Amino acid sequence: MIRKYRIGEPIPTDSVVKEIEITEGSIPYFSMDTEGKELSLLLEKNDKVFGLGETVRGINKRGWLYSSNNSDDPNHTENKHSLYASQNFFVVFSKKRQFGVYVDTPGKVNFDIGYSKLDKLTVAFEDFDADIYIVDGDSVLDIVSQFRQIIGRSYIPPRWAFGFGQSRWSYMTADEVREVADKYQEAGIPLDMIYLDIDYMERYKDFTVDDSSFPEFPKFVEEMRARGIHLVPIIDAGVKIEEGYDVYEEGVEKGYFVKKDNGENLVAAVWPGKVHFPDFLNEEARAWFGNKYKVLMDQGIDGFWNDMNEPAIFYIQDHLEEVFEQIEDYKGKNLDVQSFFDFKDLVGSIDNNPEDYKRFYHEYKGRRIRHDKVHNLFGYNMTRAAGEAFEKLSPDKRILMFSRSSYIGMHRYGGIWHGDNHSWWSHLLLNIQQMPAVNMCGFLYTGADIGGFGSDTTEDLVLRWTAFGIFTPLFRNHSARYTRRQELYRFDNVPVLRDFIRLRYALIPYLYSEFMKAALNDRMLFKPLCFEYDDDRSALVEDQLLLGESIMLAPVYTQNAQGRYVYLPEEMKLVRFRAFDDYDEDVMSAGDHYVRAELNEILVFVRKGHVLPLAKPEKSMGKVGVSDLTFICHGAEPGSYDLYSDDGESRVV
Ligand code: GLC
Repeated sequence: MIRKYRIGEPIPTDSVVKEIEITEGSIPYFSMDTEGKELSLLLEKNDKVFGLGETVRGINKRGWLYSSNNSDDPNHTENKHSLYASQNFFVVFSKKRQFGVYVDTPGKVNFDIGYSKLDKLTVAFEDFDADIYIVDGDSVLDIVSQFRQIIGRSYIPPRWAFGFGQSRWSYMTADEVREVADKYQEAGIPLDMIYLDIDYMERYKDFTVDDSSFPEFPKFVEEMRARGIHLVPIIDAGVKIEEGYDVYEEGVEKGYFVKKDNGENLVAAVWPGKVHFPDFLNEEARAWFGNKYKVLMDQGIDGFWNDMNEPAIFYIQDHLEEVFEQIEDYKGKNLDVQSFFDFKDLVGSIDNNPEDYKRFYHEYKGRRIRHDKVHNLFGYNMTRAAGEAFEKLSPDKRILMFSRSSYIGMHRYGGIWHGDNHSWWSHLLLNIQQMPAVNMCGFLYTGADIGGFGSDTTEDLVLRWTAFGIFTPLFRNHSARYTRRQELYRFDNVPVLRDFIRLRYALIPYLYSEFMKAALNDRMLFKPLCFEYDDDRSALVEDQLLLGESIMLAPVYTQNAQGRYVYLPEEMKLVRFRAFDDYDEDVMSAGDHYVRAELNEILVFVRKGHVLPLAKPEKSMGKVGVSDLTFICHGAEPGSYDLYSDDGESRVV
């Protein structure tokens, strides 16, 4: 049962697609403090709080303050409050009670989950206007499914997007891309995608291709397709200000960019230098921008990633000028310590400054609205622009799309990647912990940058992270410029990595089936143990996940480990994979076990009464079939597994 309560006059977000009548009266479970502009509830000792999507810290969110305030912050450390997403759905869960809460409001929201007071949860939002949905159900999975039903079906990518992808900021030329493809081929490692980061563009202008470094682009796209590889270019939110650039000129002429108070187009700076931001919240501007993807689709492109759409702002021109003026004041002065720090902050706080969100406006649903009031909808609507356009531009075939920034609702138009993580072991754990939380909020096609984006990676981290990544729908190795190269063929353990990637391809019948079943039935793909097992211990496990109906994962995420402790809520069959056709099996009893896992091994636990199908691995996704399967069974017959199979590219209606 879902009840909807309205506080004030919330700005609509279009995240909920089902009509639900507003219930009058007080919001169950919460008490409301209109002065403090907050809702609060007392947490009982055994209450866990799950959800909130892509955030820092553990699976159980108790003990921290989370702010929905989409931020371009490349340091996902545990002291942070906001990452790139606002996914305001959570479930309070114990044996005694369980209910879901969705706070639908497009501005900043603070979730204090046992931070200020260990036993108190508060939700505070600046204007105190929101739709609050309370979801009651028989089980936590039922609550999540009910919620997912009202927000609409999750985005379904083409099947080839379940292949392995290699990325780097940036492959600078077509020849460099060819070299990556060649090296993967020589190493015998399957590869379906190579990602093009910003340098494929001409001076970082969206929907252009640099003809000197990527000559005859359509031919190049075709050449790579013939090798089974999809090129997936990046699109950034900011449109470069440059005379003669059609996207810029059209946007100015039609008034499609966000504006300042005085009606002038806002000037900000991102990778291209000075940019205007399209007003993705304006329906017409959205349709206009969405249509631009056609420029690349006409050249053979069938997948994209949308970036810098929180929006990331290096500086706002007006803010920069104010800083210069203030610096003039400091000139020649003898700075005391406080003035020195103020001076330093002046420059240090110029990028991604939330105060700047008050400097520009959107035309949203017939109203002029200041950006900070709808900040968290920006990336969502950029991706919506693409998704809505794809339905028209490619009515028959699915197009790959994922975004960095998001809000619930965007899950209907694309997936997400988890942003600029680091090559840190803690971020492998964070990747594991974020998976069920984003699933709860509707985001199924997701994955983190395998190996880590920032910082220098290490070979063992790449091995362990790849060992987990083979299970995530979006499976991409990506890293930042100036960091150690981390394409898989560069490491000594190429044979091991080859076996890992081949295992991913062997798992496709299972992974694709489970993904499709989750999408079509509004279910989760990755679940915390306690979503299915009701013993007390399961509710405390923070580093194991159920994936689909058949398996449990227990990834190794610490350096120099040769195994790990695993908790089994019931008897399970351990499959210790070295390759798709090289593994040992061991039926293990319920309880705690130390399980050995060398760097070349991947632990999979098959649940009792379940089956894990395996295909023969292939060089690319197009070739992976669903006939000729091997079945690893644990107290079940192969035929009991429900395989999902389709052509992998037609839109699913
Ligand atoms: C952002 C993206 C990252 C990309 C870089 C350059 O930091 O998150 O993935 O490589 O921009 O485009």
